[in-house]
Amino acid sequence: MGRDRFLPRHRVGIPIASSTPLVLEAVCLTLPSTAGPVEILRGVDLTVASGETVAIIGPSGSGKSSLLSIAAGLETPTSGKAILFDTNLAGLGEDGRARLRRGRAALVFQSFHLLPNMTAEENVAAPLELAHRKDATTEARAWLDRVGLSSRRTHYPHQLSGGEQQRVALARALAVRPELLFADEPTGNLDGANGALVADLLFDLVSETGAALVLVTHDVRLAERADRTVRMKDGRIDAAESAT
Ligand SMILES: Nc1ncnc2c1ncn2[C@@H]1O[C@H](COP(=O)(O)OP(=O)(O)OP(=O)(O)O)[C@@H](O)[C@H]1O
Ligand SMILES: [Mg+2]
Repeated sequence: MGRDRFLPRHRVGIPIASSTPLVLEAVCLTLPSTAGPVEILRGVDLTVASGETVAIIGPSGSGKSSLLSIAAGLETPTSGKAILFDTNLAGLGEDGRARLRRGRAALVFQSFHLLPNMTAEENVAAPLELAHRKDATTEARAWLDRVGLSSRRTHYPHQLSGGEQQRVALARALAVRPELLFADEPTGNLDGANGALVADLLFDLVSETGAALVLVTHDVRLAERADRTVRMKDGRIDAAESAT
């Protein structure tokens, strides 16, 4: 397969989206617990520009995953706004959010979330089919090839190693050529060598497809590869620093 498939959007004639992938304004999240309400997010502002890569770091419990859930429209803020592709998520129901994400935003989690009853190839093809892309199977094979798993395409997730499963998850997320990729600790369950392989693939593929990236990680060296690092502490952005 030619490498031109993976050139940035503008070089393959795909128009670069004019919308801002993500804007969070004064996002707060308070959830009930047996010990009373817990303030998980306390006023977070964050804008991610088209093609920009942003790493979110910070201690365990500081609200990184909660922020990602709100940004992706999987959770609703208690107050404040989450605006995905210029659309306020508050105005959409669950189906509307799923439609807005389809083909435009993708997620990769720490545990791989592959569908257990589908082969690697079927897992990658599924979102392509949902987005009505032609040749979903051919595309899925090309992406499995890209992540070095051509020989594993008929394997089920339980027949794959953790690193292989995460590479399938990356292929599945990026095959639809999303404008925005959310990744929550995508190397967190992998050993050093596999983690490095997945990290390299993640940044290579994001750069090749021109996707914006919001990456939650504990790994400072991984965060340094992003255009910008945002540090969270106690549900707030502690300091924002540019890594470039
Ligand atoms: N459903 C819930 N109800 C009450 N509290 C919750 C709920 N989900 C998360 N929390 C609390 O919110 C805080 C932030 O959780 P979150 O998962 O966002 O942290 P995190 O920064 O991603 O941590 P880690 O690095 O360990 O993944 C934690 O103190 C957690 O206990
Ligand atoms: Mg987390």
